[in-house]
Amino acid sequence: MTTTVAPAEAKFDLALTEEQQLVQRTAREWARDRVLPIAAEIDENGAIPRELVREMGELGFMGIDVPERWGGAGLDMVSYVLVMEEVNRACASTGVVLGSHVSLATAPLVRYGTDAQKDRFLTPLAKGQWLGCFALSEPASGSDAAAMRTTARRGDGDAWILNGTKNFITNGAFADLTVVFAQTDPAQRHKGIVAFVVEKGTPGFTVGKLEKKLGIRGSDTAQLHFSDVRVPDDHRLGEVGDGFKIALSTLDGGRIGIAAQAVGIARACLEDSLAYAKERHAFGQRIADFQAIQAKLADMATETDAARLLTWKAASLRDRGERHTAEAATAKLFASDVAVRAARECVQIFGGYGYLRDFPAERHYRDAKITEIYEGTSEIMQLVIAEDMLGGGAA
Ligand code: CAA
Repeated sequence: MTTTVAPAEAKFDLALTEEQQLVQRTAREWARDRVLPIAAEIDENGAIPRELVREMGELGFMGIDVPERWGGAGLDMVSYVLVMEEVNRACASTGVVLGSHVSLATAPLVRYGTDAQKDRFLTPLAKGQWLGCFALSEPASGSDAAAMRTTARRGDGDAWILNGTKNFITNGAFADLTVVFAQTDPAQRHKGIVAFVVEKGTPGFTVGKLEKKLGIRGSDTAQLHFSDVRVPDDHRLGEVGDGFKIALSTLDGGRIGIAAQAVGIARACLEDSLAYAKERHAFGQRIADFQAIQAKLADMATETDAARLLTWKAASLRDRGERHTAEAATAKLFASDVAVRAARECVQIFGGYGYLRDFPAERHYRDAKITEIYEGTSEIMQLVIAEDMLGGGAA
């Protein structure tokens, strides 16, 4: 018996519009001038200057795909991935702050928020006045997100009471608003999950341990504790039982953002390797003149471009409102692998200097790895892609 896998039917345009090119140029110049010169310092100090986040707000990046009515730039997902590539090419720590805010905090409000919620919460997020985060993972549930233990039970009046701990939360320490998921009835598994927005300073809501990480050291990754946190019902996103689908459809967009981050890191590896290979001499010539180095550079360029095209394809499908769960997973799976490989080759091309903090190669090597883990591991991406082929799949 033979099985054929149908070729992709989706239509998408490879040419960027003038507006998208302008966004790309703006992001490239800003990232090159403002972020790249301090990327090593951000990594070394483990902190991003708040000034950079403010500037991303002023440039419209923090609300790039939010409608103008709610303070956003009113652009599309393709524009978002263009910005993500440029920012991450300069600094993956700054990139993940932007990505978590845009794809994981503003996006569920755009898609599932009421007008009143958008007026109150989305507008300051989109303008970059507030920072957002997304709290799904827990100490005992990462890939198996539906196994969460954080509970939501009815309290007095129309309120809910949240209890539990969330783990690995990017932007968690500084976020003004958290999109949080909780279980109302464990017997119902994913059908009992509900989503809320919780504001910083809500009594019982505290920031716990700050994680020390291998890479993306400039972004904060925090535990969040909820101890009898009273949340009014008008902070609920969607219906009770919709929470899991809100989380996974949000992650469909988030994974496109991480794919773009991986493309940015891979491009940094390529550009830094190319510059070094033209400067460094061995055996009486530039190392760029050796075929062994040329082969590495050619593979990096080819794979980076392929990863970019998969990322654009997934973003374009999302812009058209078409199904993109598998395409987002494909882009993230491939691009993260490319970034890790490019980073390994970058260190190799730099040789002994690649192992030193004085050069960017080792930072790329540490930063690239996370793209294979967060917002769904590569193994979960394979599962999502296979599920789609085998007739399961989702939205
Ligand atoms: N969009 C909308 N709904 C979806 C969906 C999607 N992409 N994928 C599945 N669903 C729906 C299904 O249709 C199903 O609905 P019905 O019950 O109505 O049929 C429901 O969700 C449950 O689906 P599954 O049975 O497939 O769910 P599962 O429990 O087996 O899990 C999974 C599937 C793919 C493994 C999913 O749990 C998953 O993606 N896990 C990884 C989680 C993850 O990415 N975590 C990262 C957290 S964010 C982060 O990294 C932190 C940070 O700050 C950066």
